[in-house]
Amino acid sequence: MLKRKTFENGFQYLEVKNSAASAKIALQGAHIFEYKRKAQGELFYLSETSDFALGKAIRGGVPICWPSFGLNNPDLPQHGFARVFLFEYISSSEMNATTTQLVFGLNDSAKTLSLWNYKFELRFIVTISDTLTMELQTLNKDTKEFTLTQAFHSYFKVSDISNIVLSGLDTKPCFDTLTKKNTLQNGDITVSEEFDKVFQEVDTILTLQDKDKIITIQNEGSSSVVVWNPWVEKCKRMNAMQDDDYREFICIESANAFEDFVVVKPNETQILKTIIL
Ligand code: BG6
Repeated sequence: MLKRKTFENGFQYLEVKNSAASAKIALQGAHIFEYKRKAQGELFYLSETSDFALGKAIRGGVPICWPSFGLNNPDLPQHGFARVFLFEYISSSEMNATTTQLVFGLNDSAKTLSLWNYKFELRFIVTISDTLTMELQTLNKDTKEFTLTQAFHSYFKVSDISNIVLSGLDTKPCFDTLTKKNTLQNGDITVSEEFDKVFQEVDTILTLQDKDKIITIQNEGSSSVVVWNPWVEKCKRMNAMQDDDYREFICIESANAFEDFVVVKPNETQILKTIIL
């Protein structure tokens, strides 16, 4: 079942329900802000004080950072512009009783060209089932190549940040954006202070263990993963977040970021894909 819905202020989203899962996806940013599996409940954190207003990024769910991650392209806003642009809802298909696929698109326009002077066709294909598959396809429609950094900036909801163990990044090269130092990760990850690291050369499946719940993240088309939690002080400074919210999530962002940028030639398509099991 698929319904088009609108908040009182006119902010539009799609609601999807099938016999395995349900999801809510805003047209702004093709932003998944709820995804509930029948068996496990809600997978993503969503701030109770998040804005749902055009031009303001939703705090939680899965923001799509594109065509720049962070300030990798210093000429663009933080995390690019796609997360605050209205996507077109292109199609949906109920593949079977437990699986629904939706396609969203964003094309260049006078507004995007004024920010980033390239012609492109962006497609976001999301498959909602007891697994969640997200695929972002970037087609270069320009006559010149462009450099892309991007991410699915997933905010995973956790019982408490002190309960989580993230596996799969052991021995990977890592850039700590807080200390500006390059290191190699040693062992599994737990979080007990502000954490903001970019892991490179990631070719393994990641596992997020939270008490008795396990989430598996499988990435294709990218080899960087950003792990972020703002902890106490930064959380207080963040917009659209309450003081203790840092306890409720960990961001594990499947990315092409920093050294893992991609160069997309005219007529080429680049694909970022993540499967969450
Ligand atoms: C993460 C960055 O990807 O996004 C953090 O590593 C940043 O440094 C966070 O604070 C949130 O960014 P924003 O733009 O959504 O507030």
